[in-house]
Amino acid sequence: MTLDAALADRIRRTPKAELHVHIEGTLEPELIFRLAQRNQVQLPYPSVEALRAAYAFHDLQSFLDIYYAGASVLLTEEDFFDMTMAYVQRASADNVRHAEIFFDPQTHTARGVDIEVVIDGIADALAQAHTQFDFSSRLILCFLRHLSEEDAFATLEAALPYRDRFVGVGLDSSERGNPPEKFARVFARARELGLHCVPHAGEEGPAQYVADALDILKVERIDHGVRAIDDPALVQRLARERIALTVCPLSNQKLKVYPDLRDHSLKTLLDAGVAVTLHSDDPAYFGGYMNANWEAAFEALPLTADDAHRLARNSFEASFLPAARKAAYLEAVDLFWQQDQPAPAA
Ligand code: HPA
Ligand code: ZN
Repeated sequence: MTLDAALADRIRRTPKAELHVHIEGTLEPELIFRLAQRNQVQLPYPSVEALRAAYAFHDLQSFLDIYYAGASVLLTEEDFFDMTMAYVQRASADNVRHAEIFFDPQTHTARGVDIEVVIDGIADALAQAHTQFDFSSRLILCFLRHLSEEDAFATLEAALPYRDRFVGVGLDSSERGNPPEKFARVFARARELGLHCVPHAGEEGPAQYVADALDILKVERIDHGVRAIDDPALVQRLARERIALTVCPLSNQKLKVYPDLRDHSLKTLLDAGVAVTLHSDDPAYFGGYMNANWEAAFEALPLTADDAHRLARNSFEASFLPAARKAAYLEAVDLFWQQDQPAPAA
C-alpha cells in the first residue's frame, strides 16, 4: 500500500503527544561516541558505522543488550541534558507538542551514577525545552523487570526526594518470565504515593500479562499491549474501559513482534474501539522518531484520515496532562483536522 502524499503531509503536521519513548533509546550512535570520548569510556565498537551495523535485532533481549551497552557512556548531568535536548529537538520537528518520557534509573545507579545526576540532567533539559520549544513533558520512572522487586523498591525510595519531578512509574526490560505480579507490591506503593502506573505488557509476553497488569498492578495505560489481540474479551474490555495501548510500529517490526507491519494488529484494535496511540519507543535504535512511526503504520495498513485524527486525539486524551491542558490540545487537533482539508482535485 502506498501512502497518499496529502495524507502523509497531514500526519507529519498534526499536533501529537508522545507517550512511549525511553530517553536512553534516543541516544544516537554519534552522540554515544561523542560522550564516550568526553568521558573516556571504552566502547566495544570501533566506529559509529560499526555500532549502527550491530543494530540488527532478532528479539527484545538482543536489543536490550546493545541498549544497555549504549547507555554506559552516560555519566554526568551534562550527558543526560544533551541526550534529552537532542530528543526534544527531533520530536518537536515532528510536531510532538507533549511527551511523557521514560527513564531507567537502575541502568545508571548500577554503574555508580547518582540518581540525582540522572533526574537533574533530564529535568533541566525538559524545563529549557518548555520555554524554548513550547514543548510540555512529564517524566516516568521505569523499573527494570529483570531485576528484583526489592531493587525496584530501593529505586523508588531513592527517587522520593525528587518526587515532584516525575508523575508515574513504568515497567520495562525483559518481559518473558517477569510477569506483572512480580511487582505487585511496589506498584501498590507507587499508587499510594499518587503516581500513575504504566507498565509494558503484551509486547513479547502473552495477552494474560495485559489482563494481569490491569487486575494486579491496576494500571492506567499499557505500553505495547499488542498481544491483547489474542483475547477478544480482553480487547472488548480495553475498549470499554478506555485503556490506551501505546503502540510502537517500528519497534514491533525491528524486534520481530510483527516482522511485517502489514500483519500488525493496531488497525484491528483501533476499529474495535481501543484507544490506540502511536509512538517511537527507542527511536535511535529502531530507525525513526514519531513521524517515521506514523508513516510506517500508514504505509503498511489501510489507515484513513479519520484514523489519523483519532490517533492524534487519543495521544492527548491518554496523557497525564491536567484536564484544561488536555482540552486545549484536543481543540488544536480538531481544528487542524477540520481546517487542513486536502485541496479538491482540479
Ligand atoms: N520493551 C521493553 N523494555 C524496553 C523497551 C521495550 O520496547 N525499550 C526500552 N526498554
Ligand atoms: Zn518501550
